[in-house]
Amino acid sequence: MTQQTNQSWGGRFSEPTDAFVAAFTASIGFDKRLYHHDIRGSIAHATMLSQVGVLTEDERDAIIDGLSDIERDIEAGNIEWSVALEDIHMNIEARLTDKIGITGKKLHTGRSRNDQIATDIRLYLRDEIDAIDLELTRLREGMITLADREADTIMPGFTHLQTAQPVTFGHHVLAWQEMIARDHERLRDCRKRVNVLPLGAAALAGTTYPIDRHVTAELLGFDRPAENSLDAVSDRDFAIEFTSFASLLLMHLSRISEELVLWSSAQFDFIDLPDRFCTGSSIMPQKKNPDVPELVRGKTGRVYGHLMSLLTLMKSQPLAYNKDNQEDKEPLFDSVDTVKGCLRAFGDMIPAIEAKNASMYEAARKGFSTATDLADYLVRQGVAFRDAHEIVGKSVAYGIETGKDLSEMTLSELKQFSDTIEQDVFEVLTLEGSVAARNHIGGTAPNQVRASAQRARDTLAHFTGGTAQ
Ligand code: ARG
Repeated sequence: MTQQTNQSWGGRFSEPTDAFVAAFTASIGFDKRLYHHDIRGSIAHATMLSQVGVLTEDERDAIIDGLSDIERDIEAGNIEWSVALEDIHMNIEARLTDKIGITGKKLHTGRSRNDQIATDIRLYLRDEIDAIDLELTRLREGMITLADREADTIMPGFTHLQTAQPVTFGHHVLAWQEMIARDHERLRDCRKRVNVLPLGAAALAGTTYPIDRHVTAELLGFDRPAENSLDAVSDRDFAIEFTSFASLLLMHLSRISEELVLWSSAQFDFIDLPDRFCTGSSIMPQKKNPDVPELVRGKTGRVYGHLMSLLTLMKSQPLAYNKDNQEDKEPLFDSVDTVKGCLRAFGDMIPAIEAKNASMYEAARKGFSTATDLADYLVRQGVAFRDAHEIVGKSVAYGIETGKDLSEMTLSELKQFSDTIEQDVFEVLTLEGSVAARNHIGGTAPNQVRASAQRARDTLAHFTGGTAQ
C-alpha cells in the first residue's frame, strides 16, 4: 500500500478516500463551531480516565495542557482546519498528537466520536439555552414595563381584524407577554432533557474500560449519565425539542411583528417605531419601513423548516448512530442563531415602542366598539340579551347611515330603538367606561392591567430566581 489513508481509521482501507467523497462527508466546515465544547468534553474525559487509572496523572496533565493550548490557538485564529481530518474531533485530536506526541493518541481511549459528538452538541446547546433564557427574561421585562406604562391607553381590540371592543394597549402587550412566558417555560423544560451525558456510550454498546460516567457527568455539569448506550448515541430528541420551542417562539414573534407592521402604517397609525429599528427606501423619500418586525416575521419560515428537517432526519432511523445524524448541526445552529438575533432585536425594540394615544383612541371611538356595552346596559334594564342585540344592531345601522358613533347620538335618537334607554347610557358608551367595566382578573380594566403587570413581574422574578424590580 503506497497511498496514504485516513490516519484515524484508515487501517483496514486499501485506497484513500475519493477527494470528492472526503469533502462531501466532512463536517469540519460547520462543526468547527463546537471546538470549545469538544475540548471541554475531552478534558473531562481525560480527567475521568486518570481517576480510574486508565491514564496516568502525567498523561492527563499533558493532554489538558495540550488541549488548552489548542483552544488558545483556535481563538487566536492560528489553526487551519483540515477537510481530510473530517470533523472537529479528529482535527483537534491530530493537533494534540502533533503537540504532545503519543499521549495525544490515548485521549480517545474508551470513547467514540459517536458519544463525543452527542456530548458536544448537548454542551453547546445547554450554553445557548442559557443565553436565550436571559434574552427571554429581558424581552418579558420590556413587555411588562411597556404594559404598565400603557395601562390606561385605549385602543380598539379586534376580532377578525375588525374593531370589536375597546381594550387597553397595556392589556394587549400583556397578552404578548403570556405567549413569551409559555415559550420560556418550554425552553426550561427542554433544558432538562438536554442536560444528560452520552459520553461513555462509546460507539454504541459501552466500553470495556473501567470508566466512571458519574464522574464525567459531574465534571461537565450534567444531571446524570444517559441510561442506555444505544439511545445515548442516537437520540436527537433534544434538538427537535429545541427547534419546536424555537418554532413556537418565532410563531409568536411573527404574530407580534405582524401587528407592529400594521400598526406603524399610515392606515392604522397606532405606534411609532424608533428610527433605529427602521430603514428608508432608496426611491421613495417619505418611506420608513418597519424592517425589524418584517424580518423577524420572515425568519419564522427558516425555523419551521429546521424543525421539519430534524423530524425528517430522525424518521425511521434504526438504532444506533447513523451518519445521517451529522445533518443535525446546521439546522440546530441556524435555529439558535435566528432565535438569538430575533430576541436581541425584540428585546431592544419592544420597550422603545411609542404609542400614539390620540390616534388609537380615535380608532376605538369610530368602530362602534361600545356596542356590546350598550347591549349589556339594556340587559341591566331588564331586556333579554337577544332582544338587546337586535336593538343595538339597529342603532349601529342608524349610526352607519348618519355617520355617528353610538356615543355621538342624542338620547332621543337612541330612544327610537328602545325607550328603556336613559341619560345614564352615556356613561357606558364612553371608551373609559367600557374598559373600566371589565374589572376582573384577566380583564382589560386599567387597574387590572396594572395588577396583572405586577403579577407578571413577580412570576418572572420567581422563575428566574431573582428579585422583583
Ligand atoms: N461528524 C460526525 C457527526 O457529526 C461525528 C460522528 C462521526 N461518527 C462516525 N462514526 N462517523 O455526527
